[in-house]
Amino acid sequence: MVHNVTLFASGNGSNVENIIKYFMGNNNIKITLVVCNNKDAFVLERAHKYKVSTKIISNAELKDGSVYNYLKKTSTTHIVLAGFMNLIPLNLVRHYKNRIINIHPALLPNYGGKGYYGDNVHNSVLKSGDNSSGITIHLVNEEYDKGKIIFQKSISINSDETLESLSSRIHELEYKFFPQIIEKYILNKL
Ligand code: GAR
Repeated sequence: MVHNVTLFASGNGSNVENIIKYFMGNNNIKITLVVCNNKDAFVLERAHKYKVSTKIISNAELKDGSVYNYLKKTSTTHIVLAGFMNLIPLNLVRHYKNRIINIHPALLPNYGGKGYYGDNVHNSVLKSGDNSSGITIHLVNEEYDKGKIIFQKSISINSDETLESLSSRIHELEYKFFPQIIEKYILNKL
């Protein structure tokens, strides 16, 4: 059985590009669509480079759940949020129960919830004085960052850590682990 994955993203899209590259030529898992809620996001160029279809959606389509129509059209079986900053509508959470995966750039349950996105997360971690951070890969439910955790990896924070260094080290972890965890989860090998 082929699993069709739609990626949701809002901005730069370096994880999207990494995931597209990882699954190129894979017979079991196909990246069929990139959904983006920002028409100027660089992720759109990245997807076009690899000839993956894109769909720009409005906030209204997200809020009222009509984004589901695009997923139906592409026979989407799973959704992966890779740098997506909005809440997923209830109809999708229900229809794709246990089939929506998100990555968060910190060790949940800390530094999660509404407003915690990208650099905001890293700034909060650095301000807190914590000595570690990391990545969390989890399933998506009705609430921001509250679904079941399927993978975490931590790193220690260096005494001279900056926003740039932390963000780059976290991205490296994401590139290394996210595609393989997606693959294992979808193929029931986790
Ligand atoms: C990634 O670090 C991802 O974990 C984070 O946004 C970044 C997007 O980078 N996601 C969240 O903060 C979700 N709350 P990218 O656009 O270069 O992949």
